[in-house]
Amino acid sequence: MTRSTTSPVPLPVFQRTRRLRQNTALRAFARETNLSAGDFIYPIFVVEGEGIRKEISSMPGQFQLSLDSLAGEVDGLRDLGIPGVLLFGIPSEKDEIGSGAFAADGIVQRAVKLIRDYAPEMLIVTDVCACEYTSHGHCGIIVSGVVDNDQTLPLLARTAVSHAEAGADIVAPSDMMDGRVAIIRQALDDAGFVNTPIMSYAAKYASAYYGPFREAAESTPTFGDRRTHQMDAGNIREAMREIEIDMAEGADAIIVKPALSYLDVLRAARERVDVPVVAYNVSGEYAMIKAAAQLGWIDERRLTLETMLSMKRAGADRIISYHAREVAQWLQDKA
Ligand code: PBG
Ligand code: ZN
Repeated sequence: MTRSTTSPVPLPVFQRTRRLRQNTALRAFARETNLSAGDFIYPIFVVEGEGIRKEISSMPGQFQLSLDSLAGEVDGLRDLGIPGVLLFGIPSEKDEIGSGAFAADGIVQRAVKLIRDYAPEMLIVTDVCACEYTSHGHCGIIVSGVVDNDQTLPLLARTAVSHAEAGADIVAPSDMMDGRVAIIRQALDDAGFVNTPIMSYAAKYASAYYGPFREAAESTPTFGDRRTHQMDAGNIREAMREIEIDMAEGADAIIVKPALSYLDVLRAARERVDVPVVAYNVSGEYAMIKAAAQLGWIDERRLTLETMLSMKRAGADRIISYHAREVAQWLQDKA
């Protein structure tokens, strides 16, 4: 270390926190939270058809992919050291009850099988919800203009079992119906999938940050919104209640979503439960960074890494992110 200069004036006694920030090696030594490619789960939107790689306009760099593009996509993730994917399906036909969600030969079920065969080591998580599959874009069965909780539950259970049958490692219900973890657990167990974990979107807020996703997944509701089931942005105690209920019903891991505006919820969740806590860095969070970067207003690499770090620091064990590939690439470049 270089010798310091002598002060021209007599100094009081004080602590020197700058000691540990002097150079890269010392900063690395003192760093409390680190990112690695292994922290990430990468969302993929799968569509029917062939040779399709259609960019989502509000999510530059993200694509709707047909089944034949999946192997190449998985190769890329492997090379980057990203251990898992979260699959969303976009069927060619939608109906009132979203029957494509639980069809044995549905788009997600076929995607799961394909990735399972191609990359046995890849963690395959499936989103369990009806909104991509219903003609009205809602997360379940509509009765008198609202999503009916109890009629939706059996469909979610069937969907989860169909994903497990296809070979999913984890099912992730995102619908926010009451009782869904309980009914999914029961259905999985009855079908012999006692070992399939449930990662519930336990604290999922009704958020404007999902806008770009709904373009990507073609799941914008044709009327109304999701506020009768997703949570109100002002509430954190209610999030704790949701988490506790899902834990009691048998959740093996939980998701807090969105992430960035809800870091307090992530922190509180981390302190409350001992299962994996996963942050969902949602589509709008990705789109905001991309837009500002395209305008040249921010440094995308630095801002993204800082954002991901904030989620881990807040308590996330893992992060679901559209930025996963770029982050993994940046981490590789640095090493
Ligand atoms: C389906 C679902 C949504 C997201 C994940 N699963 C959309 C919604 O609830 O409207 C959002 C993901 C994102 O914005 O990146 N229920
Ligand atoms: Zn939904």
